Amino acid sequence: ETAHTADLIVFGGTGDLSMRKLLPALYHGDREGRLAPGTRVIAMSRGGLTDEDFRGKVDAEVRDRIPGGDPEVWRRFLGRLHHVSIDVGGRVADGGADRSGWDALSALLAGHEDRDRVFYLASPPRTFGVFCRELAAAGLVTPRSRVVLEKPLGHDLVSAQRINDEVGAIFDERQIFRIDHYLGKETVQNLLVLRFANAFLEPIWNSLWIDHVQITAAETVGTPGRRGYYDHAGALRDMVQNHLLQLLCLTAMEPPARNDREAIRDEKVKVLQALRPITGGEVERFTVRGQYVESGDMPGYLDEPASTPPTDESRRVETFTAIRAEIRNWRWAGVPFYLRTGKRLPRRVSEIVVQFKDVPHSIFPGGTPNRLVLRLQPEEGIRLHIMAKEPGAGEVTLKPVPLTLSFGETFTARVPEAYERLLMDVLAGNPTLFMRRDEVEAAWRWIDPILATWEASDQLPEPYPAGSAGPAGAHELLARSGRAWHEDV
Ligand code: BG6
Repeated sequence: ETAHTADLIVFGGTGDLSMRKLLPALYHGDREGRLAPGTRVIAMSRGGLTDEDFRGKVDAEVRDRIPGGDPEVWRRFLGRLHHVSIDVGGRVADGGADRSGWDALSALLAGHEDRDRVFYLASPPRTFGVFCRELAAAGLVTPRSRVVLEKPLGHDLVSAQRINDEVGAIFDERQIFRIDHYLGKETVQNLLVLRFANAFLEPIWNSLWIDHVQITAAETVGTPGRRGYYDHAGALRDMVQNHLLQLLCLTAMEPPARNDREAIRDEKVKVLQALRPITGGEVERFTVRGQYVESGDMPGYLDEPASTPPTDESRRVETFTAIRAEIRNWRWAGVPFYLRTGKRLPRRVSEIVVQFKDVPHSIFPGGTPNRLVLRLQPEEGIRLHIMAKEPGAGEVTLKPVPLTLSFGETFTARVPEAYERLLMDVLAGNPTLFMRRDEVEAAWRWIDPILATWEASDQLPEPYPAGSAGPAGAHELLARSGRAWHEDV
């Protein structure tokens, strides 16, 4: 599938995501010849900018984010950019008095109905339904149109269903691309290749051989300036409902029969549907939540710069969570999947750790079980810890040594950012790496009872010092069954 000439219309087009991720990704696509001639990028924002203003702003703010950019391509890329002013907040609130933005967009798109048209909603989820209705009312939704939805897709199952209904009233499911940027990461895609293009793993990829799996996404950043969003999100909604559960699906799914959009997504959704619900009293046993507090020169969550003072909600929100999940099917019964994510941890590391069982019968003293580590970031790579004999003429001494595949050292090609791959897929009309409606809803169905129990609880999240490895509860979650997190994050 190659891209046709397209008009890419980005709502929230001057926002953080657009400036940091989308525009650099599109530039790289352009440089690699993957934007068809005539393709335009139309940013929609409140800014009141002209095309020239917007190009100037992108030149000033985005160019530096692209090391080694090509001036010739950059000029061509800037020439693709347009800006249309639209009062996003006002439109949603006042029911639509000001039509000028929609009129300007219609004028720009008129006569280009034969192009692919991509509406990228990088705006808050409450705007998704309104924008889709407005686009339809303005006659802008053509058969060649697609819509891209940024996360968060709702804040629970009911709100996600409502958004899906609203968007689904205008666009067919095959036209809807729900982003989870983790699926665009190189190493995440490589997980499928590792599992399904090699013979040696799949026969042992089950409860007979695997003791447990750990999925970690640890960040050093806090949430400065993000409290307005984060107070209502928390780590469970922000990271687990989407990114971590997607990683769990790719790790646990059955081999699909084909590498195609529906086959892969069918297998992922089966994993989500097989997750054992965590409800009632189990929530306390199988989940941990924490919130970072001031330590050294690092502020606590409640002290982070924000436009309003902290509220009760701020005090209750989790900036860290760890969960012991289980998949109820033949392959995985009895194998815990430990999920963990948090802000203000000591290191930025995302990885999947597959911990194998010990050998059935050992003839040497001192062995440790094998472990496969898939590092998503930083230093993308795969590491298999195996047992070897330490050289020496005396007694056999075992030593765990890593077999390492470092992507940086093995491949010289530039590793594309997740958004590059995903944007090019949207332009090519390939939804394989995007979430289908049933996936998103199945994920919320599992998350909802955990959220409800937390919300009804009178306990606050466990405090952990900013820069530490998270609350003690996370350690205990594994220690109870004699296990430990692979590496202190
Ligand atoms: C986003 C979350 O989806 O993912 C952020 O909203 C988080 O809170 C980010 O920081 C992490 O992405 P990455 O690619 O840096 O691991």
